[in-house]
Amino acid sequence: MSITDQIQQVRSEFQTDLKSLSSENGSVDTIRIKYLGRKGLVASLFVQMGSVSKEERPHMGQALNELKSEISTQIDTLGSGDNSQGENREEFIDYTLPSDPLPAGSIHPLSQVMEEIKSIFLRLGFSMAYGPEIDTEFYNFEALNIPRHHPARDMQDTFYISESVLLRTHTSDTQIHFMESHDPPVRIIAPGRVYRNEDISVRSYCLFHQIEGLYVDKGVTFAELKGTLDYFAKELFGKKVKTRFRPSYFPFTEPSAEMDVSCIFCKSKGCNICKKTGWLEILGCGMVDPEVFKAVQYNPEKWTGYAFGMGIERMAMLKYGVEDIRLFYNGDVRFLRQF
Ligand code: DAH
Repeated sequence: MSITDQIQQVRSEFQTDLKSLSSENGSVDTIRIKYLGRKGLVASLFVQMGSVSKEERPHMGQALNELKSEISTQIDTLGSGDNSQGENREEFIDYTLPSDPLPAGSIHPLSQVMEEIKSIFLRLGFSMAYGPEIDTEFYNFEALNIPRHHPARDMQDTFYISESVLLRTHTSDTQIHFMESHDPPVRIIAPGRVYRNEDISVRSYCLFHQIEGLYVDKGVTFAELKGTLDYFAKELFGKKVKTRFRPSYFPFTEPSAEMDVSCIFCKSKGCNICKKTGWLEILGCGMVDPEVFKAVQYNPEKWTGYAFGMGIERMAMLKYGVEDIRLFYNGDVRFLRQF
């Protein structure tokens, strides 16, 4: 092969080596040595100059010098050291490649259920109200017709902060806060966190969420309460669910009731979740007790109302078939990703 051909061959080999530099993480120094080293390809071409005829020599020498300076300028612009870490790394970045996907978060199932419940009642004309999580015995108990030694206080194990300050055990405290500062008529829902000093288990946790409803106006009837809650249940669980009201007891409502929905898991045939009854209890409700009106200086002769309260965790467990309440709080993404 003539020297001219060899020069051409070294030139194109060098270009190939340059291209593979970025993908193979090769180093610039290796290439420098291969071409410009003492025993490198360029040097060996110079050695061959000895056998070139006198006439040809100046011409060949020029061609060879050109090759040498071409190679060294290109190597110099690449910089020295490991090219993959070097300053010129950008030259090898393929900007058209898709980037690494960022994992997308999701809205917590409790927030989803809470939002859904809120939006149902907002459509019915209710507005939002909020109460404090740290409250006093007066708002959490007394004004709700649960005086100090009333046995109903045992229904809710309370975290006390001091003698009369506590972590609220239910969102019913917001009824009192709101009525105290607003004249009737009232139509509110009050979502929030509540706390109970209970053993942690599959069914109960020391904190959970509730949503409270309160409607006060002239001539409010139990039929309106039933109609509103029946509509709510059908919006949340589907048009086919049936509801039923069972008499119950709450100190702040009279009469009081609990509402059940027909079991959404077995279609009322009877399963483990509904304990073979075909029904699932979802909330407590009733007509506001006149004693509650007296505590907030509403005239019970003039005003009537209904109230209801429900647990968000319980709703979410029923809606999504979750069997352990603790799953909502331990932040396991394998659980949360499903919603
Ligand atoms: N506060 C009750 C509880 O935590 C739930 C409740 C029942 C709220 C009846 C109400 C109601 O407003 O009318 O168990």
